[in-house]
Amino acid sequence: MYQSIFRPGLFDGQTIIVTGGGSGIGRAVAHELASLGAHVVIASRRTTKLERIQAEIAEAGGSASYYKCNLREEEQIVSLFEQVLAERGAVHGLVNNAGGQFLSPAEQLTSKGFDAVIETNLRGTFLMCREAFNQYMGQHGGVIVNMLIEMWRGFPGMAHSAAARAGIENLTKTLAVEWARAGVRLNAVAPGLIDSSGLAHYGEALRPLIEQTIQDIPAKRMGTESEVASAIVFLLSPAAAYISGESLKIDGASSLWRKTWQIEDHGRWERPYDGFTAR
Ligand code: ADE
Repeated sequence: MYQSIFRPGLFDGQTIIVTGGGSGIGRAVAHELASLGAHVVIASRRTTKLERIQAEIAEAGGSASYYKCNLREEEQIVSLFEQVLAERGAVHGLVNNAGGQFLSPAEQLTSKGFDAVIETNLRGTFLMCREAFNQYMGQHGGVIVNMLIEMWRGFPGMAHSAAARAGIENLTKTLAVEWARAGVRLNAVAPGLIDSSGLAHYGEALRPLIEQTIQDIPAKRMGTESEVASAIVFLLSPAAAYISGESLKIDGASSLWRKTWQIEDHGRWERPYDGFTAR
């Protein structure tokens, strides 16, 4: 069973959709929410991983179901909510975690590559929010958490994704105001360098760069999937009932660091928190 720091039963009776719940941060969020009593709906473009995660969650005593949904296809998003509502009757929470990007110098980005990243991340997040609102939350309220990256000083090598995420951040703020009347809260999280399964996607070539980047993080270590999941779970929880339109950085202070303040490798930061391993 996932070791959450939150109270058992905190999400009892709730149905929460987590996109991209098949791996990395999304998988950790799905496990944590299920361990706290939620029925978790994991959705992704491909179902092979989802089947495994559903089984993992069931084995741990949780409740999960999965749906195939390509975020670049509007009708699949509409139908995801129709199906989940037909089956569960409610969607109390939504975590727009799925997304993707690839490394490329900006001048080499094709319009196809640029559009793909904007469509998946920005438009996909918008459509998920819109359907959550129109099909359920507009009537009943709800909580949404969107996914950013640590893009506060731009993001060299990922111009498309940083632009999409900056759009998501602003969208989150607009919707937080527009939908307040319906009791819908929206926030975003911005992970820095996280030791997630998604890192492998960029290949071993990135390893030396990662080691170097760690030295530029005041925490002097990477974050864990669980450290992002717990922030998302907090924002979904009643403890965050007065927080809306905010962006929470989970980055070991990396976005604040500058080279005029050298920090020796200190090993003094809190131990990485990992809900998958007993502490
Ligand atoms: N993860 C990355 N790209 C995706 C997409 N188009 N749909 C759903 N999940 C995704």
